[in-house]
Amino acid sequence: MSRVRVEPARPFDLTIDQIAPDKSISHRAAIFSLLSDRPSRITNFLRGEDTLNTLTIVGKLGASIEDREGVITITPPERVGEPDDILDCGNSGTGMRLFSGFLSTLDGFFVLTGDRYLRNRPMGRVVTPLRMIGAQIDGREGGEKAPLAIRGRDGLEPFNYRSPIASAQVKSALILAALRGKGESSYWEPELSRDHTERMLQGMGAPLSAKLEEGGGYRVHIRPLTAPLDPLTITIPADPSSAFFFAVAAAIVPGSQVTLKNLTLNPTRIEAYRVLQRMGAQVEFIERENLYEPIGDIVVRHAPLHAVSVEERISWLIDELPALAIAMAVAEGESRVSHAQELRVKESDRIRTVVENLRRCGVEVEEFEDGYSIKGGTLKRGVVDSFGDHRIAMAFLIGGLLNGMEVEDTDCIATSFPNFLELLSQMSEVHIGD
Ligand code: S3P
Repeated sequence: MSRVRVEPARPFDLTIDQIAPDKSISHRAAIFSLLSDRPSRITNFLRGEDTLNTLTIVGKLGASIEDREGVITITPPERVGEPDDILDCGNSGTGMRLFSGFLSTLDGFFVLTGDRYLRNRPMGRVVTPLRMIGAQIDGREGGEKAPLAIRGRDGLEPFNYRSPIASAQVKSALILAALRGKGESSYWEPELSRDHTERMLQGMGAPLSAKLEEGGGYRVHIRPLTAPLDPLTITIPADPSSAFFFAVAAAIVPGSQVTLKNLTLNPTRIEAYRVLQRMGAQVEFIERENLYEPIGDIVVRHAPLHAVSVEERISWLIDELPALAIAMAVAEGESRVSHAQELRVKESDRIRTVVENLRRCGVEVEEFEDGYSIKGGTLKRGVVDSFGDHRIAMAFLIGGLLNGMEVEDTDCIATSFPNFLELLSQMSEVHIGD
């Protein structure tokens, strides 16, 4: 379990074109390749632990995977087969929830498990609606926790499901189940969550349509597949959630600027940059192309930050809230995050872990059930814990660019951003120890 120490940064002006490829899109590219009957070609697949676990599972389900000159070619099997072992999703909620929906509709027996953190995260949010349409899934605590044992079968019931939460993972699991269902289905969520699944599946020719509803909320209509989908040919853009750590770095270190290259500019993914803009940082979005999603660069320049209140479109910036908490801790005034109870069921309870670590750095913070308030000013050098959560580790290392920081248990960074420390060391001195 390595610990990392970072020293205060000098002002920097950097262009970063090696941000980790997008995690959400990488998971989906690997899984969706199984819906075609021809090889999919994926360039710039994220080689982080989470997505490599997903790729391994795709292989265990019978696909052949070739990795040559940076391009991963996934040739699906004629029929997805029953694996002779458990399927390990590691730390990834996305992997486990999407596979739950997908495997429920396939003939066979499948066991999904993960690391100790994932085995403690709520799975009822996918298990309950999947059971309602006839899926046979069991798990610990009545199906709330993994390992999950799935007895899959062809053709689940069509549904009209209103999800109580805006969750892209739940939505994706249900869309995957509906594509192999017995009739037309409809999925509603209270607010649009990230929509990579809809965009990518539509790009592959899937019979689904989606729209924002007048009374609020968002609905997806799904017709069952009558033929295999077109294969994917995709270059995965860089991950705006990973890039955001360096956006905060530029925003808080006086005299600094960063250009983050080739990010997905999908509106459901860049809301945190808009909040940073509202706090006073200079942020510029430069769209360059559109492949399933708008793609381009984001430039962030330092400016004195002031407090902000974040209470809507939470699902659009949920993964960036730990890094935003760092910006809030150095901004002038008291910031507040509310309606963010989903933070409690991420890779760690991120309300608890953000609050605890900020306190260790001398920041005045108040914890609420659905968020926190942060009195900005200075973020002192402290010794903090990742609590096994990659985004907590990275957020506090970025915070250390001001006055230094020591973060314990940093191995988790490899789940989503294997070259993070290498990039961080372009801004400051980084010491890695045990
Ligand atoms: C993800 C969806 C989000 C996000 C997670 C990745 C995805 O979770 O927090 O890191 O790839 O679908 P929700 O399902 O809660 O929206």
